[in-house]
Amino acid sequence: MRAIELRSDHLRVLDQTRLPQEVRFEEYRNPEEIATALREMKIRGAPLIGLAGAMTLVLVARHNKGKSREEILSELHRAAEPLLKARPTGRDLYTLTERMLSVASEASDICSALEKELERIQESMEEISRKLGAIGATLIGNGQTVLTHCNTGFLAAPGEGTALAAIKFAWRSGKRIRVFVTETRPLLQGARLTLWELQREGIPATLIVDSAAGYCMQRGMVHIVMVGADRILPDGSVINKIGTYTLAVLAKRHGIPFYVVAPFSTFDPKGEVIVEERGKEEVLPQDWGLKVEVFNPAFDLTPPELITGVVTERGILGPQEVGKFAKD
Ligand code: MRU
Repeated sequence: MRAIELRSDHLRVLDQTRLPQEVRFEEYRNPEEIATALREMKIRGAPLIGLAGAMTLVLVARHNKGKSREEILSELHRAAEPLLKARPTGRDLYTLTERMLSVASEASDICSALEKELERIQESMEEISRKLGAIGATLIGNGQTVLTHCNTGFLAAPGEGTALAAIKFAWRSGKRIRVFVTETRPLLQGARLTLWELQREGIPATLIVDSAAGYCMQRGMVHIVMVGADRILPDGSVINKIGTYTLAVLAKRHGIPFYVVAPFSTFDPKGEVIVEERGKEEVLPQDWGLKVEVFNPAFDLTPPELITGVVTERGILGPQEVGKFAKD
């Protein structure tokens, strides 16, 4: 099963807001609809968001095939605008959109150049996911319990995902492991999506509320923490789902290794990050009738001193080494 797929004239999307109760696919034909699906998190996870952006530009090129080169280019730039605004924190959406626009600007046949580029992007993302899985799996010992946050599986990144790929590969290699899954307030990506993915694989999993992580660590129930990243800054700070920083502080307090599993595409040489803030209705039910302010940041920043290592497709880096590899 794929979370998103480009068909001839539409994007076929597994609506993640309906999981785990319902496996329902939707079809989107234009960039505005896709930007809305990104904002509503029907499509989510930094690498998958990036891929959705690249696929959208192919759709736009196909829909405008008969037009002049200049017209197609301007349609592509117009389409990129709402996409880039939809989820501002993850790095992949920017890099892949920029990459597609630059390919288009140099191509004589824009549509076929973008289709070929998309194929390359997709193949390489899947290959990277396999590498992250294989390398990350070596860090998980037989009999260990891994704690993971949010969703970092195939619902978040093409292939098998990032941190969840490592967990799946460890399990497939015959290690008897258990996974503690934080529910991941407020949208429950852990409870709804990660548990669904783990159940499909038959991997033993235990759901905990986010605030139970410290208690579980204190009781020796967690051997290793593995999370993904939406963006990694040149100083090695990791931007990831809100709650990641708290987990890293707790892991440090309890001497538990804390690994980030992320492709090089997540590394940001400039370190410019917008931390997305989402609506109050995600946290405070409207029908409570309470007129209060809600601060709902979707991501946080974990500084490098709390991170044991960053698993990349080229090996495991110390968090301080990350900056050396970040390039435009
Ligand atoms: O808000 P989301 O669900 O898109 O956030 C996803 C995460 O924070 C993941 O950990 C991150 O995208 C990396 S997973 C490949």
